[in-house]
Amino acid sequence: MLSSDPVALEALPAIPRPGRVLMTSPDHFEVAYVINPHMAGNVGDVDVERARGQWEGLKTTYERIGLEVAVVAGAPGLPDMTFCANQTLPYQTPGGHLGAVMSRMHAEQRKPEVEHYRRFFESQGYEVQGLDKDLPGDFEGMGDAIWHPGRYLLWGGYGYRTDRQVYDRLSDKLGFPVVAVSLTDPDFYHLDTCFCPLDEETVLVYPGAFDEQGLQDIRARFRRVIEAPEDESRRLFACNAHSPDGEHVLIQRGCTETNRSLIDAGYQPIEVDTGEFLKSGGSVFCLKLMFW
Ligand code: ARG
Repeated sequence: MLSSDPVALEALPAIPRPGRVLMTSPDHFEVAYVINPHMAGNVGDVDVERARGQWEGLKTTYERIGLEVAVVAGAPGLPDMTFCANQTLPYQTPGGHLGAVMSRMHAEQRKPEVEHYRRFFESQGYEVQGLDKDLPGDFEGMGDAIWHPGRYLLWGGYGYRTDRQVYDRLSDKLGFPVVAVSLTDPDFYHLDTCFCPLDEETVLVYPGAFDEQGLQDIRARFRRVIEAPEDESRRLFACNAHSPDGEHVLIQRGCTETNRSLIDAGYQPIEVDTGEFLKSGGSVFCLKLMFW
């Protein structure tokens, strides 16, 4: 079921929030090609030492707030593999069954990344599945497909990397409703660049990245919609933040206005520096994957 009618959230099965974090070491991270507008002008420009330090800083931040971080090693020749939100969509069914859908990466350069995560999830005892062979279109995992916190409801961004029809099929097969939202600005090429659910009732968004229908769908399902300003969203990836627990919000350093709104709404922003990764078009949310 692809859903445009506001399904009452309370009517959907409750799913526990995932408690484990996966990160991929930036051993081979660089900007080696351009597949999003943020990468343009940054080819060869990553300070590798600094990137390593920023990645360690993010990992330590998760650990400090009590989360366990599993690490998959980055592989040679796959400079974007450190963005481990993109290769899979882990799920837990209302019956407690654990699985992971493997992505079909849009860019040729990133396709071989997926295999590494297939192995990881197999080792964790997850049921691993690919997209059906007869189904055309790409899918970039949790870059575009984001769980509504605590509910069996998926938000699905499409337009640049993921194709809309993929959500129909996933929804039919796995039995969750999907709210598919169109992305309209190439700087916000993944849903996670402009949409960050903080808890069941609250989402942080950059409204300029959506069309009218998308904004309407968001407002119909979140009681509180916090808006990040354009500059902090476009330049500092304010909405690529992450709240693992509905309390702390890990966010790129310097998002002053966004942080003020977050604090006013009762959250505790924790600033981290992901500056080297911004050169590749990613920040906090993309550098981790949550799983159960
Ligand atoms: N350079 C990577 C790409 O364009 C960045 C991915 C960032 N990930 C994300 N979930 N937004 O694919």
